[in-house]
Amino acid sequence: KPAGAPDASLARKITKVGVIGAGLMAAQLALLFARNLHVPVVLTDVDGARLDKGIAGVRKDIDALAKKRRISPDEANRLNGLISGSLDYAAFADADFVIEAVFEEIDVKKKVFAELEKYVTPEAILATNTSALSVSAMAADLEHPERVVGFHFFNPVAVLPLVEIVKAEKSDDAALATAFALAKGLKKGPILVTDTAGFVVNRLLLRFMGEILSTIDEGTPADVADSALACLGLPMSPIMLLQLVGPAVGLHVQERLHEAFPDRFTLSANLARIVESGHRALVTWDDDGKQTLAPEIAALWQ
Ligand code: 3HC
Repeated sequence: KPAGAPDASLARKITKVGVIGAGLMAAQLALLFARNLHVPVVLTDVDGARLDKGIAGVRKDIDALAKKRRISPDEANRLNGLISGSLDYAAFADADFVIEAVFEEIDVKKKVFAELEKYVTPEAILATNTSALSVSAMAADLEHPERVVGFHFFNPVAVLPLVEIVKAEKSDDAALATAFALAKGLKKGPILVTDTAGFVVNRLLLRFMGEILSTIDEGTPADVADSALACLGLPMSPIMLLQLVGPAVGLHVQERLHEAFPDRFTLSANLARIVESGHRALVTWDDDGKQTLAPEIAALWQ
């Protein structure tokens, strides 16, 4: 039994899952849930074009798995059948677990949960994949705040084995037990964390990421700062990792941590400049794995 996990017998059965927000993270989550739990998964977004793009992304990932022979054609068909899109929260009326992965803005997330509560049963668990926001604040105005937990995945979701389960002020044992059982069903290793900014992993990550970005702000060439970390044996360079999670997400987490712990977390002017520029491709790499900073980023970071 993982540390802090409540009695497993309290876990509720999951027969249908909802995922809100059809961005990069949500699409990965939909596939993970369908593939491991074998239950219907409904993906929603407020924007029809984004929803279509999200669903198309999931279908493409399923195709890629079939082409690599990781799944059989039958399994691909089954997964395509399990995953559907909807613009309407009414599709969650019979869902037992709904996770949101919308824009990292507390008011947006509160609005999503408030609206969601009108459609789901009182027992349905509401989870958030937030990187750094307060889960307790998200649940505060709900009729049933006890069913809200944080369920924080890491990118790429299919590969990284950890899930942070966040116990908010009012999360009850049934919600937490369900989250632990679910993580096990997804073949992830859950840890129970307290509801503080950045939880555990992003606090560790942003400490070293923040230092790399500070050295660049202070004038160290970006490729030099980035390559210096190779000695730590990290699976990918910090700038490549920043590209993977998305510069806007990186900045959001940095701002939230700076706000909560100003003595320990700095803000990077260069990161803010990149997000403002809208460039998402920070690096390119060749077949030998040699990494080059994108020219637009090199120009911004001079
Ligand atoms: N999506 C899905 N699968 C992926 C993937 C992706 N983006 N990238 C790689 N993979 C899969 C590959 O298909 C491969 O699977 P296979 O063995 O079944 O073929 C497997 O991962 C290994 O890939 P590779 O051999 O190509 O490459 P690596 O061995 O270098 O591993 C990596 C790639 C797993 C991405 C590794 O570089 C890594 O762990 N990087 C660090 C990632 C990290 O730290 N993420 C946390 C970010 S923080 C976060 O998400 C929190 C948020 O709140 C900010």
